[in-house]
Amino acid sequence: MGCRYDRKGKVAKRYDRWSRFYDALDTFPVLGRIEKKWRLSAIESLKIDDGNNVLDIGTGSGLILPWLAEHVTNGKIIGVDISEKMLLKAKKRIKKYEIEAVASVQKDDVETLTFQNNSFDRVIATFALTTIPNPEKAVKEMIRVLKEDGKMVILDTGKPKNPFVKIFYYPMLPIARVFGYTYFDRDIKSIIEDTNKLKIINMKTFFGGMVYCISCERELPNG
Ligand SMILES: C[S@@+](CC[C@H](N)C(=O)[O-])C[C@H]1O[C@@H](n2cnc3c(N)ncnc32)[C@H](O)[C@@H]1O
Repeated sequence: MGCRYDRKGKVAKRYDRWSRFYDALDTFPVLGRIEKKWRLSAIESLKIDDGNNVLDIGTGSGLILPWLAEHVTNGKIIGVDISEKMLLKAKKRIKKYEIEAVASVQKDDVETLTFQNNSFDRVIATFALTTIPNPEKAVKEMIRVLKEDGKMVILDTGKPKNPFVKIFYYPMLPIARVFGYTYFDRDIKSIIEDTNKLKIINMKTFFGGMVYCISCERELPNG
């Protein structure tokens, strides 16, 4: 059960603990406004069509759900997370904002999703892959549940290229780890390319590359 050293159990426990403060941190005056812009940009990049069903990976406290719901017509949103306490926060948010487009938020591990192949038209993950112990497995699962003409957007943190930003980046790493951003500098772009199953259509970077947003679509099997 679980992976060696139960890294996933540790992640779930960490987010259970942080669930009380997560929204306060992520909606902090200036940073919160900037993060909202990134999240809205990620949602725009998903290019949700009428009737699309959307999966939000590592939905956490459901911060993006109200904004995501504004784009979903005649379709449903499902959010998954491994932290029960974060999910509780998400459920409260859904109730508070009466978000009808959300079918459910449920406990599920992105590395072993319980959905059938080709279940979703759109898959989104915002600041989730940076916390997940095995991103290769996660990306593989996200592709498996994505329909063949589906689109996927990943918004996350990366290693900046800009030398000025690097001055802030390295001292910030230990602090970021405390907040659960354990794998801050993951190269998700290479992981996506290595799958040979997704075509990257666009990659935006923010903050000198410290945050990026990758939009991709399924490569058709014979294309
Ligand atoms: C930094 S939070 C991001 C939450 C939300 N997406 C947002 O933008 O605010 C990362 C979330 O990923 C979840 N997570 C970590 N590992 C996971 C896994 N293996 N499966 C599903 N969710 C996971 C954590 O519990 C946490 O809620």
